[in-house]
Amino acid sequence: MSFSRSIKIAPSILSADFADFGREIQAIEDQGADWVHVDVMDGHFVPNLTFGPPAVAAFRKHVKTVMDVHLMIAPVDPYIDAFAQAGADILTAHIEAGPHIHRTLQAIRGAGMKAGVALNPATPEDAVAHLLDLTDLVCVMTVNPGFGGQSFIDLTGKVRALRAMIGDRPIHIEIDGGVTPQTAPLVAAAGADVLVAGSAVFKGGAVENPAPYGDNIRAIRHAAEGAIA
Ligand code: DX5
Ligand code: ZN
Repeated sequence: MSFSRSIKIAPSILSADFADFGREIQAIEDQGADWVHVDVMDGHFVPNLTFGPPAVAAFRKHVKTVMDVHLMIAPVDPYIDAFAQAGADILTAHIEAGPHIHRTLQAIRGAGMKAGVALNPATPEDAVAHLLDLTDLVCVMTVNPGFGGQSFIDLTGKVRALRAMIGDRPIHIEIDGGVTPQTAPLVAAAGADVLVAGSAVFKGGAVENPAPYGDNIRAIRHAAEGAIA
C-alpha cells in the first residue's frame, strides 16, 4: 500500500444491507470504491452496536482493496490482535477512548497494521501533535460517532490546521460523517484525502441495482477533485 494523497472514497458498510455484506462489498468495489470502511461500535464508547472481529474476518474474504477498520470502542488494546488476525489493513482508534493512545498506536503498528487516530468533533487538532511519528492516518469526525446519516459539522479549520501540522509526512487525513457531493469539496480543499461516506454512497442502490453506488461515488470524487484542481 504505497502512500498517495489523491482523493480516495471509502464507503462505510454501516449503510449496507446487513444480511448481505459479501455482495455489498463486491458491489461497492466494482463501482469504484478505493477503500472499504468498517465501523466497529461497542454500545459503550458510542451508543450503538455493530460487529466484532469474527464479522470483520468474514468481510476480509470479500475486500480486494483496503480494509479500513474504525474502532469506536473502549478499551481498544485488548482487541488489537483480534483485529489484526481478522485482516484489518488500517486500524483506527479514538484518542478519547483511553489515556494511552500513544501505547495503542505503537501496539497497532506492532501487530503489523497501519495505525489511525480518530478525533471527535470537540477534540482539537493539537491532541495529535505528539503522535505524528506513530500515525498513518488522522480521522477527523465530522459527526458525533455512533450513527450514519447525520448532518455534517463544518470543521474545515481543524482539517486545515492538521494539514499544515502534517507537512510532508505520509499521513492520510480522513473525513468521517456527513460527506456528500456538497460537503466533500470543503474538506478536500482543506487538505483531506480520504472521504468516508455511508448514506451518500448507498442511497438509491442495492446489490441487485449497484449502478447508483457508482454514480454516488463518482459524484463525491468529482466534487472533491474539483476543489483541489
Ligand atoms: C459514524 C461512522 C461513519 C458513518 C458515516 O459513527 O463512523 O463511518 O457510517 O455515515 P454517513 O456517511 O452516513 O454520515
Ligand atoms: Zn467510521
